[in-house]
Amino acid sequence: MARQMSTVLLRPGMILGRSLYDARGRVLLQRGMMIREQYIQTIRNMFASIYIEDELSAGIDLVETVPVEVRLTVEQTLSRQWEHWEQHASFERLTLQPGFARGIREQMKTLLRIISDTTVIREDLAAIASFDNGTYVHSMNVAIYAMMLGHALRLPDSLLVDLGIGAMLHDVGKLWVPVDVINKNGPLTATETAMMQRHAEWGHHVLSRQTELSYLVAHCAYQHHERLNGSGYPRGLTGDEMHQFGKILAVVDVYDAMVMHRPYRPGFPPADVMEYLFSRAATEYDLDLVSLFSQKVAMYPIGATVELSDRTNALVVRIHDNVPSRPVVLVVKGPDGERVEPWEVDLCQQLNLTITRSHATVVIKSID
Ligand SMILES: [Fe+2]
Repeated sequence: MARQMSTVLLRPGMILGRSLYDARGRVLLQRGMMIREQYIQTIRNMFASIYIEDELSAGIDLVETVPVEVRLTVEQTLSRQWEHWEQHASFERLTLQPGFARGIREQMKTLLRIISDTTVIREDLAAIASFDNGTYVHSMNVAIYAMMLGHALRLPDSLLVDLGIGAMLHDVGKLWVPVDVINKNGPLTATETAMMQRHAEWGHHVLSRQTELSYLVAHCAYQHHERLNGSGYPRGLTGDEMHQFGKILAVVDVYDAMVMHRPYRPGFPPADVMEYLFSRAATEYDLDLVSLFSQKVAMYPIGATVELSDRTNALVVRIHDNVPSRPVVLVVKGPDGERVEPWEVDLCQQLNLTITRSHATVVIKSID
């Protein structure tokens, strides 16, 4: 029973609706705890949005696509390998940690079993990330989205496992991009952009030498920034030259990167990012993949706040399997901003109403 809220709006006395974890997977604050004045700045420094429990959130049951224990195990496997590579200076002789390949394969099989039972991703996966564990959460989210798409395309399980591993490791080349370029908050210079873009080649260079991994894994790193019309990098491949995994990763990587919150900007609302992908489908992104993706991921996740076309504000309560873009919502504020006795509206039944806006910060501000 919880709803999503921007941390800008946190006030003492609010009740946490979902536990908060640090980058090492330790619980920072347990679900159900009251937020004290002294926690607020720390929470804001780490998270852009959290879930709270209040009288408005009664009846909103959050879903957890991937159980937190599974997520943390996978993220820790990745972070251990990442640290192992960071400590080894010789770029030419990088190896996998003993047991990494077997471990990640087993973990991707577990993820595949979960995904096979998931019709739509109903939660905001970006909300899980704190600013300091963004890389691992992003890799995990990209793996979840890529496997959802691959599963919907009915790819065989062995390929889906390789796709998952490739998604987990797609950005590994960033380890060899200077930290000040990676963490720069402003626009990159031409030299910095060139340095940043090398990560695709470096990822391929390192991964293609690991005999325990499929060569497809290296191609996930190599091709995830290629675009159908040849405008991507590093090789400027066109659609017919790209591997299917490259096309899948291009869609899901950009989606997750845009919805993720950064310390210097909030994430874009999922519906806006989906719109962006559709506007570039057929030129940069595969239209069939974008279209399939839009049926597999809720544009308005459970617990999000939305504005309806009659100018009422509502919370997303449930999401239909077949039409994720028209959820069941709970109207909590009237058109003039007044609190109302909440009532449920199923947007699949009430076809004259549409969602006009969903922006965590702006809309939620008008509710609280
Ligand atoms: Fe990348």
